[in-house]
Amino acid sequence: MNLKADRKRVFSGVQPSGSLHIGNYLGAIKNFVGLQDDYDSVYCIVDLHAITVWQDPAELKENILEVAAAYIASGIDPRKATIFVQSQIPAHAELAWILNCTARIGWLNRITQFKEKAGKNREKASVGLYAYPNLMASDILLYHSHLVPVGDDQKQHLELTRDIAQKFNNDFSASGGKDFFPIPEPMILSAGSRVMSLRDGQKKMSKSDPSSMTRIELIDTDDQINRKIMKATSDAMLLPEKVDDLEVRPEAKNLITIYSAFADETLEKVVARFKGKQFSRFKKELAEVVVENMGPIRDEFIRLKADKSFIVKVLDEGRERAAEKSTPVISEVKLIVGLG
Ligand code: AMP
Ligand code: TRP
Repeated sequence: MNLKADRKRVFSGVQPSGSLHIGNYLGAIKNFVGLQDDYDSVYCIVDLHAITVWQDPAELKENILEVAAAYIASGIDPRKATIFVQSQIPAHAELAWILNCTARIGWLNRITQFKEKAGKNREKASVGLYAYPNLMASDILLYHSHLVPVGDDQKQHLELTRDIAQKFNNDFSASGGKDFFPIPEPMILSAGSRVMSLRDGQKKMSKSDPSSMTRIELIDTDDQINRKIMKATSDAMLLPEKVDDLEVRPEAKNLITIYSAFADETLEKVVARFKGKQFSRFKKELAEVVVENMGPIRDEFIRLKADKSFIVKVLDEGRERAAEKSTPVISEVKLIVGLG
């Protein structure tokens, strides 16, 4: 059986666990768009990941459709890329179980995201939250993916995925596993790979932060974008003279990085333009460039959200294409492992 795709394959996913924000856009979705012409691109809505922390069932259902609408509004073309829902392809959970038996407990114990998310309440965290990186490895490996565009926070999960693929290939080398899974490469672009909270330059911008003032959401009006940026935490100094000066000024660094990502200009160029200026003046221009980029995406997002039947159709087609790509892989995995 030939499992090799004609073109190299890109795979990534976003959780339907709340309002998408410019961190998701700059760190992940914007890069998905740029890859769809050159790669066989598969973009998943990872609902099985979302339920590792409790989700309101009615909201989860809506959020799944919203991620699909956000993908398309951002420029992912469903005729070029496969957009689908993780739980509609049972092989994700099946392969995840098999990989649970490949990954070692010591490997998972090193995952920092579990430590951050579980916090002091480790004993009360779900088993799913702990095993989540194995499910992510399953998503990627099930499609024999070569390239995985993600934000910086996913780097450690990608390293684990590579270790799991290598161990599986070794453990089963005598029964067809040799070189079975391609070892996937992370793709982490520096501009926008780590957008921080608008209220604390040391914290990641996140869907789960209780305050929506910490993030610019895809759904925000121009006024809300303006207000959030004008109220964003800065520091008491003028804008810096050199890029290096930003290292000790996390809030300034974050705002300048956001400008640089949206304006598609280097940090050097942005710093040179605004050096010695007041934050209020810079923030006005920042708000302008954010509105200019996010405004059209928001309008399209709102339009698509209302067109449920179109989104459902896209996801139905996506499921068929995802099944075509993944069925031969899971069947082969079972043969290799000696199952059934
Ligand atoms: P999640 O919201 O956890 O499902 O993340 C979806 C994608 O967005 C992943 O590739 C993340 O790495 C990326 N991402 C999430 N938050 C940020 C952020 N604050 N800055 C940059 N990328 C992010
Ligand atoms: N763990 C990722 C996040 O929280 C989402 C994700 C799940 C993913 N499976 C994936 C990303 C596979 C890339 C590839 O952001």
